[in-house]
Amino acid sequence: MPQSLPTLCGSIMGSPFSLSAKIHNAAYAALGLDYTFVCFGIEDPVAGVAAIRTLGVRGMNVSMPYKTVVMEHLDAIDESALVIGAVNTINNVDGVLTGYNTDYLGAVRALQEVCELNKKRVAVIGAGGAARAVVYGCLQAAARVTVFNRSSERGKVLSSDLGAHWGGGVETFAAQDFDIVINATSVGFKQPDSNPLDGLLASHLIVMDVAFMPVRTALLLQAAELGCRTVSGTRMLVHQACRQIELYTGMEAPIDIMEQAMLEEIQRLNL
Ligand SMILES: NC(=O)c1ccc[n+]([C@@H]2O[C@H](COP(=O)([O-])OP(=O)(O)OC[C@H]3O[C@@H](n4cnc5c(N)ncnc54)[C@H](OP(=O)(O)O)[C@@H]3O)[C@@H](O)[C@H]2O)c1
Repeated sequence: MPQSLPTLCGSIMGSPFSLSAKIHNAAYAALGLDYTFVCFGIEDPVAGVAAIRTLGVRGMNVSMPYKTVVMEHLDAIDESALVIGAVNTINNVDGVLTGYNTDYLGAVRALQEVCELNKKRVAVIGAGGAARAVVYGCLQAAARVTVFNRSSERGKVLSSDLGAHWGGGVETFAAQDFDIVINATSVGFKQPDSNPLDGLLASHLIVMDVAFMPVRTALLLQAAELGCRTVSGTRMLVHQACRQIELYTGMEAPIDIMEQAMLEEIQRLNL
């Protein structure tokens, strides 16, 4: 019999996906905590938030397409999540639900393992939820950020909302104008042959991809071939999960164990 009442954490998403459960449960085991993480596939995000309160779920990850819609149903929103306009983490402390965005921290922590961001010229490709988090994080770290996106309307809105420069369509990206380029589109995710910057890279660039399946995307493979330094989407993913562990447990996250669990699960999923 367990020595304590187990604590429940989980994720609400459109279609349940095993990766977060593997990463979180590996962390809880390593920390010796009687926590369990369960992936809930739901269709009604408002009922999902109510269930957190009813069941006393300690922490809930939120995936697309619910990152924005849950916000108005929480008790408080962290300042960063408010500016980004998306919550991917709900922290339940004594019945008070606060929404956070850990994606931006994941991106910044992963990039800062490779270089300082202060005054760096950063090109972000994309204008969806991930791009908003990446742009916000880079601006917080005092980088000079330019956004490129297929749809100019969405790109311009993101740039003006967050205070970045608007660059235009991806074809107008010129490598010599930047130190770092980040793919924050969905191109390349579960698409091992798709590279959104095919033929546009140069060896001086640091190249990051937010796509995390496969681990080495076509973009990262081409960048490595050119001699660029690279930052993988899996590194961002594990860093954003570390922040969730810090929030849900108040303890330091065992990043190496979490990364190993993540990579094993991606390999098992065969991507
Ligand atoms: N590593 C991590 O920790 C992490 C965290 C969060 C998300 N992600 C990943 O980030 C990616 C983006 O997620 P999201 O939530 O931002 O998605 P989203 O809101 O749907 O945005 C998708 C973005 O991709 C662009 N795009 C889609 N198809 C395209 C194409 N064929 N050609 C050019 N641009 C295209 C869209 O351009 P338009 O505006 O023109 O449609 C938009 O900028 C996903 O792969 C997700 O898994 C990774």
